[in-house]
Order: sequence, then C-alpha cells, then structure tokens
Amino acid sequence: MIEVENLKKIYRLGDTKVRALDGVSLQIQDGEMVAIVGPSGSGKSTLMAILGCLDTPTKGTYRMDGQPMEKLSDNQLAAIRSRKIGFVFQQFNLLPRTSALENVMLPLSYNGVKGKTRQEKARAALEVVGLSDRSRHHPNQLSGGEQQRVAIARALVNEPSILLADEPTGNLDTHTGADIIRIFQNLNRERGQTVVYVTHDSFIARHTNRIIKIEDGKIVGDERVENPFEAGVPRLDDVLAPAHQGEGKAGRVL
Ligand SMILES: Nc1ncnc2c1ncn2[C@@H]1O[C@H](COP(=O)(O)OP(=O)(O)OP(=O)(O)O)[C@@H](O)[C@H]1O
Ligand SMILES: [Mg+2]
Repeated sequence: MIEVENLKKIYRLGDTKVRALDGVSLQIQDGEMVAIVGPSGSGKSTLMAILGCLDTPTKGTYRMDGQPMEKLSDNQLAAIRSRKIGFVFQQFNLLPRTSALENVMLPLSYNGVKGKTRQEKARAALEVVGLSDRSRHHPNQLSGGEQQRVAIARALVNEPSILLADEPTGNLDTHTGADIIRIFQNLNRERGQTVVYVTHDSFIARHTNRIIKIEDGKIVGDERVENPFEAGVPRLDDVLAPAHQGEGKAGRVL
C-alpha cells in the first residue's frame, strides 16, 4: 500500500522556482489499477519518479507498506526499488546490445539471484508477456510493442508489490498500446498486481478502476471507474456510432 501526504517537489533554476508537485496526498491500496492523467507539465512524471523511489520529494511523507521512505539512505531506497517496484518507461529503456532474456535477468542479478533460477524466472516473465519466442532477440530486432513487453517482463521479474508505468503506450500505435494495456489488466485481475500508469489519453485511462487527475502539481480529481473498458474488445457504441453517421470507419478498438 502506498500513502503519500502533502508531497511537494520544487525545482529551482536560478531565480525561478517550479512547483512540480504542490501538496499531493493520496493512497493506493494493494490490488488497485489506477490511471494518472493531466496536461503536459502538470507533475505526473515527477509524482511517478517519487512513487518509484527514483527521486525524493522536497517536502511531505511517503510510506510504502507502512514504511516511511524519507528516512532511508540512497542505498536503502535502491534496495526497496529493486525488491518492491517495477518501473516501465515510455522509451522502453532496454540495454541495446543485450538479448531480451538478459535484459529481463538483469534486476535479478542486482538482487543476487543465482544463475539457473535467474534464467527460469526471466523465462517465466517473458512468457507472461507472450514473448517466449523472442528471448534471444536484441532490442533492435524487436518491434516497439515487443520492446515494451520485454520492459514489462523486466519490471515484473522480481515480483514487485507495485508496477508503475509512465506513458507506457505513448510511443506505440493504438493497436499495440492495446496489447500493453491488456497485459496490465490481466496482471491486475489474475495476480492482484497493483498497477499505476500515466497516460494523457482519457480513453486509455478508462481501462483502469480509478482515475486521478493532476493539474499544476495538485490533485484535482479522483474518480472510480464503474465499468472499465476491456483492452482489445471493440465497444458496441464505437462500432455502431460511426456507421450511423455514415463515416464508414471502424470504431476505436483498444
Ligand atoms: N529536473 C527538472 N528541473 C527543473 N524543472 C523540472 C525538472 N523536471 C521537471 N520539471 C518541471 O516540473 C514540471 C512538471 O514536470 P513533469 O515532467 O512531472 O510533467 P508531466 O506531467 O510528466 O508532463 P508530460 O505530460 O509532458 O510528460 C514541469 O513544469 C517541468 O518543466
Ligand atoms: Mg511526463
């Protein structure tokens, strides 16, 4: 469980101060699937970096599973990060001259997992994202969607308590984005994996159970989604509406 209270992040550049986060308080329970939305520059990535222990706040408190983060040293934070947090980036961030399997094995090496177990766990994680047949491929031999799936496998391999993703579909077309959201939905429903992702797309946000809106570093909305959309399943309204309007194009399928 994540609890943050009155988080502030202030960047100083010369004489100017940027309030990237301006008093954010929120709780995310285990097993939730949450979207964070908001305009460019509103503080979404700043918040994700703090939640992912990649950065620290200027002020405020952050507890993960009851443990206060602000008292931890950099080394302790790094340890929490590698054990409890899986992070997925918009740009995939895979090591280029390394196979998919080795990319996924990497976080296990940091945690001291031995060779054979490392391989087994990495193979299992690649299987979860449907990429068993691409384990020897290097990133430049994979499509964007496949690279993102490797990145998700890498994020999952240590069985994190929370999976954080900053615009995970931002570099992908709609159809490929759907595959990624489908994986998140499956992980959330079948394994109870807590998932939080940032998106600027309100349609993609509707595939979660909760949408948090951020503007100017503040939370301005926090709503439950009654009937989340199913990734990959066309919605009747979408399929029918354009035909009625004579547009003749297929409905949006995600
Ligand atoms: N390292 C930094 N130094 C100074 N200002 C920063 C730094 N990082 C972010 N900012 C500023 O903080 C604010 C929030 O940035 P952030 O990256 O969190 O926005 P965002 O909501 O993720 O935007 P986008 O949708 O474009 O990714 C912006 O005004 C940005 O210019
Ligand atoms: Mg951002």
